[in-house]
Amino acid sequence: MGLPTFFITFLVVVTCLMAYPETVTANHAGVTRHYKFNVKLKTITRLCKTKSIVAVNGKFPGPRVVAREGDRLVVKVVNNSPKNVSIHWHGIRQLRSGWADGPSYITQCPIQSGQSYVYNFTITGQRGTLFWHAHFSWLRATVYGPLIILPRRNESYPFVKPYKEVPILFGEWFNADPEAVINQSLQTGAGPNVSDAYTFNGLPGPLYNCSAKDTYKLKVKPGKTYLLRLINAALNDELFFRIANHSFTVVEADAAYVKPFETDLLVLAPGQTTNVLLKTKPQPPNATFYMLARPYFTGQGTFDNTTLAGILEYETPSDSSLKSRKLLKPGLPAINATNVVANFASKFRSLANAKFPGNVPQKVDKKFFFTVGLGSSTCPKNQTCQGPNGTKFAASMNNISFALPTTALLQSYFFSKSNGVYTSDFPAFPLHPFNYTGTPPNNTLVTNGTKVVVIAFNTSVEVILQDTSILGAESHPLHLHGYNFYVVGQGFGNFDPNKDPAKFNLVDPVERNTVAVPSGGWVAIRFQADNPGVWLMHCHFDVHLSWGLRMAWIVLDGKLPNQKLPPPPSDLPKC
Ligand code: C2O
Repeated sequence: MGLPTFFITFLVVVTCLMAYPETVTANHAGVTRHYKFNVKLKTITRLCKTKSIVAVNGKFPGPRVVAREGDRLVVKVVNNSPKNVSIHWHGIRQLRSGWADGPSYITQCPIQSGQSYVYNFTITGQRGTLFWHAHFSWLRATVYGPLIILPRRNESYPFVKPYKEVPILFGEWFNADPEAVINQSLQTGAGPNVSDAYTFNGLPGPLYNCSAKDTYKLKVKPGKTYLLRLINAALNDELFFRIANHSFTVVEADAAYVKPFETDLLVLAPGQTTNVLLKTKPQPPNATFYMLARPYFTGQGTFDNTTLAGILEYETPSDSSLKSRKLLKPGLPAINATNVVANFASKFRSLANAKFPGNVPQKVDKKFFFTVGLGSSTCPKNQTCQGPNGTKFAASMNNISFALPTTALLQSYFFSKSNGVYTSDFPAFPLHPFNYTGTPPNNTLVTNGTKVVVIAFNTSVEVILQDTSILGAESHPLHLHGYNFYVVGQGFGNFDPNKDPAKFNLVDPVERNTVAVPSGGWVAIRFQADNPGVWLMHCHFDVHLSWGLRMAWIVLDGKLPNQKLPPPPSDLPKC
């Protein structure tokens, strides 16, 4: 065929992959896929209340972004909303493209109302499901959507080829304006109001007030394999998930393949994604099946203790038989079933085979020990505060509650203007060690500061993340930008540097971007710092993030040209 015909055929084939195509152009390695995100207000009704939310392209949840491994994504984000916004491509490695990572005041200033910014990055060495979300205040409550990475063309899929793929996003719905909710909490020092519902793909479902018509239905055919791309985009809650009378094969986590395992129960922390294969019954059963999600929670504060339901329904030639079917409900573990969660987490192993070798650092250049947990900060004079004992709630790592700067860290680092913006003295170990999971100390005050850790290019890093019992032990989903890490160990109580390292898995540890630090326990992670830039690490509970449970790594340039961060794009937003 002639070149034009070839090109059109190619375009049609590529375009069919995409639920929301803009334009696609080819180059030798992969293709470049162009998307446009129009951020604007949208009127929406949920739980019988009509309100205005910030949304992308008038959709809630937002549009699907689909690409193949090796492709370049170019997303033009135009902010036609009255709010500041930035978009984070959660889990994307962003190799030498840190300017496109997205966290406000870390890698960029937010895109102001009326402004735009083009995110430009290539997807390298990843395949599976991720998501994108707003990274400013609590805007991600409504500004989020799936980011689907297909394997390279002609590359085989190492698991059963699914008949169909279905993204399911777990969300958290607030009747109030989520930004107002966190602003009020920061002002008064009290815990923020909890959400009003959880959602599957934006739908709360039959267990909530006047929401039966807003029910997520997964319609399936018997005898088929479905790939569910599960994404926990909730703000503040880890969630159990189960479908009555069905089980799953877990095949991927955070866009890395895992050794397949069977389970009828899933647990996802905010920021975690996972692909599971669902094999439907060989014959259409005389029942429909609830799919339920509800929180796992061990903290002392309040939380949204509601249950989310959707429906798994088998298609039949006639709808008449539908009515006579019974509705089956799955059971779910207790709200605080920490052992169930630990057991589930322990099942994840990377493939670690010839085709997908693990690259867990066997030797460590730099060791770190970070406590993660809650704390308090003093109440300003002339104010009464509603946090613990008249203070304000805070959260910290190594007792530093990270204060956001008013300009982007990456810019101040790149142009050597750190003065007055950040300091490089984030402690590698707690300055005042204590019995982290024992009786908490009387003094729970945190220190505020914008402190970072600076490390040389290609340092191999080990971090022990240790939960504390200050104001209640709690599981914290820790997320690292710009990297995947290997989860080499975890346990309960205090980490023991003499005994615990001997039990580390350095053979096939799971590779992730978000790991839940066990409630009252610790987790050990390793990564190779081969991506220069400024990388945020934080709790993916937005409430803890806002309270300061975050820090940043500065990974310096290496010596070779391809080990350096290029200068920023010319449209990088200004503060
Ligand atoms: Cu998904 Cu910094 O977050």
